[in-house]
Amino acid sequence: MKVSFRTLFTLLTFALWVAACSATRQLPDASSLTDFRSRSLPASPQVGGGDPQQGHEYITTGGYIGSGIPWAFFNPESREPDTLYPRPGDNGLTRPSYNVFAFDNGVKVSSGNCFSCHAQTFQGSYQLGLGEVDNDYAENRTLQLKFLNALIKRRFGSDSPEWEAFSDYRRFLNSTAPYIITPFDGPNPAFRLEEGCVLRRDPVTLEYQEEPGWEMIDYTLATDVPPLWHLKKKTAIYWNGMGRGDFSKLLMQASVLGIHDSTAAREVQKNFVDVVAWGKTLEPPAYPREIDQDLALKGKVVFEERCSRCHGTYGDDWTYPNKLVSLVKVGTDPYMALYFTRQSGLPDWYNQSWYATSAPYSQLVAEEGYVAPPLDGIWATAPYLHNGSVPTLEALLNSTLRPEKWARRPDAYDFEAVGWKYDESGGKKRSIYNTTLPGYGNEGHYFGDRLQDPERDAVIEYLKTL
Ligand code: HEC
Ligand code: HEC
Repeated sequence: MKVSFRTLFTLLTFALWVAACSATRQLPDASSLTDFRSRSLPASPQVGGGDPQQGHEYITTGGYIGSGIPWAFFNPESREPDTLYPRPGDNGLTRPSYNVFAFDNGVKVSSGNCFSCHAQTFQGSYQLGLGEVDNDYAENRTLQLKFLNALIKRRFGSDSPEWEAFSDYRRFLNSTAPYIITPFDGPNPAFRLEEGCVLRRDPVTLEYQEEPGWEMIDYTLATDVPPLWHLKKKTAIYWNGMGRGDFSKLLMQASVLGIHDSTAAREVQKNFVDVVAWGKTLEPPAYPREIDQDLALKGKVVFEERCSRCHGTYGDDWTYPNKLVSLVKVGTDPYMALYFTRQSGLPDWYNQSWYATSAPYSQLVAEEGYVAPPLDGIWATAPYLHNGSVPTLEALLNSTLRPEKWARRPDAYDFEAVGWKYDESGGKKRSIYNTTLPGYGNEGHYFGDRLQDPERDAVIEYLKTL
């Protein structure tokens, strides 16, 4: 049979259309949203106490991921000390986004730590706590992982203690790989990664199970990584405020990547009391250029009138209302919030799990809204909104300036518009932020549109001081 080019083209277009529909069809229905009055999320009981210095040591060197790649695989004897963030011992020989620690059987392993997402070199210095903006999850890593598994097996053998020390990490890396592919680089799919892990974990014992606990949809939602210096002000964490209860439990969720059971998790949790204390000591970097103080003062007046009821007040006697605002009211892309109220199995898993049913207690309580975040250090945390869809503060506060498709210019910060310089055309497809895709929209939060131009300029000047 001879198939004409036109027929082929039509068939191909149809197939693409079906593929696109099936990807979005599985997302929650956003046509009806539950509205509610904005309300402050109350504080929950916390273990409290904790030693910030020990917390820093544990988070930058500890074994909270549980297992990892055998350290010998990286040939440590031939490595030079890392200069980005010097650390003692073996850790000093690897990048600061990896920890080296001993697995239960004594084999040293290395795995990614919190700073593979919660640190960034910015304005010439490596800053712990600043969210990573160079996330590159647009690539399918399934094949690379298979190759890595094969190399490690060949080097150590499948009945070696090294292979045993790698096995939990390997299982979970392999099982998450298909779920974390984002449509372009930039946003971070941390919750999809967590889902990929807990999908195959018994909630109570945390042990590996072959059968997945629920069916994951075939579309990756991802977010901007919030800075950790907000911790001291927060009563609930995450963009949608679903992280409620004791923070030492909530902050150690990355342990599901390679910790093998709830007994090991308990040991990690004790150390996370210190990690929480450390997180609460973090401060944002100061704006490095000159600020027009008179203009900033005018901006403060406008801000307190128009923005403070949601975002709080700043200075020594700061206030912060921890306000959850409905999707209807804030109007930003609804899918991330809806995913957790209507689709993801993660909140149910979590609330039946060791994390929720043993002291200290924590829960994931998803609602159809986003929390108005603290704006401390907001000048440094572009791009903006929960999905990082808006490159600058100027565009956040004037929606007519928001680009539909844009590519961040690496290392080019814009101190006028405050945020990332960007290009609207050219460049590699995977580096272009496409706000027309579900979950990645740049609509909503029109509170700045109501300002006169001079008022907006003044508010931006004030935001630089926070
Ligand atoms: C794979 C990337 C990744 C890793 C690893 C990771 N995080 Fe996160 N983290 C994120 C993202 C993305 C968010 C925002 C998720 C959301 O709110 O929807 C987040 C949110 C948080 C928050 C809430 C911040 C706020 O203001 O609400 C805290 C606290 C946090 N992470 C701490 C940690 C700690 C501690 C570790 C290590 C044990 C860690 N994270 C590991 C990506 C990561
Ligand atoms: C009714 C409550 C409300 C008001 C009023 C409000 N905001 Fe927001 N704001 C929010 C919420 C909720 C978010 C998070 C939305 C999201 O991420 O989808 C947000 C996000 C932001 C962000 C982005 C934060 C980040 O880390 O990406 C900035 C900046 C901001 N608001 C500034 C302002 C300014 C300036 C004003 C006053 C002109 C203002 N907001 C008025 C609720 C409000």
